[in-house]
Amino acid sequence: MSHGRFNNPVVAALAGFKDLFRKQDFADRLKPTDRFDGKTCLVTGVNSGLGYATAVEMARRGAHVIGTTRRLGQETLEKIKKASGSEKVEIRSLDLSKLGSIHAFIEGLEKDGIHPDVTIFNAGAALPGSRKTESGQDEMFLVNYLANVMLCTLMLNKGIITRDNSNNDFKPRMLFISSDSHQGSSYIDYDEFGRFFKYGVKKGIANYSYFKLVLNTFATELSRQVNQEGVDVGINVICPGPVHSGIIKEAPLPLRTVLGAIFWVIFRPPSKACLPVVYMAISPDYEGRTNEYQHMFKPKRMDEKVYEEEEGNKLWKRSYEVWAEIDPKFEILRSNIHR
Ligand SMILES: NC(=O)c1ccc[n+]([C@@H]2O[C@H](COP(=O)([O-])OP(=O)(O)OC[C@H]3O[C@@H](n4cnc5c(N)ncnc54)[C@H](OP(=O)(O)O)[C@@H]3O)[C@@H](O)[C@H]2O)c1
Repeated sequence: MSHGRFNNPVVAALAGFKDLFRKQDFADRLKPTDRFDGKTCLVTGVNSGLGYATAVEMARRGAHVIGTTRRLGQETLEKIKKASGSEKVEIRSLDLSKLGSIHAFIEGLEKDGIHPDVTIFNAGAALPGSRKTESGQDEMFLVNYLANVMLCTLMLNKGIITRDNSNNDFKPRMLFISSDSHQGSSYIDYDEFGRFFKYGVKKGIANYSYFKLVLNTFATELSRQVNQEGVDVGINVICPGPVHSGIIKEAPLPLRTVLGAIFWVIFRPPSKACLPVVYMAISPDYEGRTNEYQHMFKPKRMDEKVYEEEEGNKLWKRSYEVWAEIDPKFEILRSNIHR
């Protein structure tokens, strides 16, 4: 099992280098006046890297930020408050590798009447190999893909993401953090979809990219399903480009040393890498727009396979089948949930 373009993590890391020199069409479009005052923004995975920096930048720009971490988040909470100068920050617990944690998180949002205007599906993992979760899936598949399907389905079905609670001039936005390394991955392999396979470092990086292609295909189908008559929820995808973050923290030491040097010299600090994310999350330029992709500040097409309706339909059906197989609390996305 491996369907990604890269079989070498060093080559994959260096591939991001030339991206830094490409023209960033929208680079000057994020304005100091692009603020989140009065808006609630949910960001998954704020413990480090891009999620942390995004949470800080949103809080600095007036958002009530709800960040998630999988471990106790008090230290992260204090860091975000201090860096942003805002007290309107809270942390909730969410481990995307545990179905129980996903349901508990959703129940908490429901109980507390939280309705995010912006939801950033940021948390992700690049693991050195396969690892079986307690529900029997590959951890990268669950964390990078299926958990996001669960989260957004439950949030839409339960009216947590809803137009009713948003300002009329701002439709809710969902933004999936992906990777441009998804380009060139193979078609989705439905024979092995959701099944556990053993693999090591080389296939780990290939599978990471492949799961991002799967995520992008789902986001595209979700946008079709939710926005059947005009745009009710802006559902978009972004690759932040190369970010000097904690993403390689689980790589074996020799590889981590090499990649760490590349990250240090070439990759961008999260405080800079988060700016296109913040732009897509708040800019009026994105009002009423859905199914768009940016690679950093550059609007771009995703891999063409992502847009194929037949692929989207198949993935939709298979994803809910796999969820139903593993979770007694399974729910399928109901139509017109957001009205
Ligand atoms: N770094 C890059 O060059 C790059 C490039 C393109 C796309 N991205 C994407 O950017 C996003 C953020 O990654 P990053 O680069 O900022 O790396 P990071 O510093 O490792 O951040 C990833 C975040 O996800 C969280 N996470 C990991 N596994 C989780 C789980 N099972 N449940 C809940 N949260 C979990 C991590 O929490 P812990 O701290 O507890 O592990 C951390 O907060 C990811 O989706 C990644 O794929 C990164």
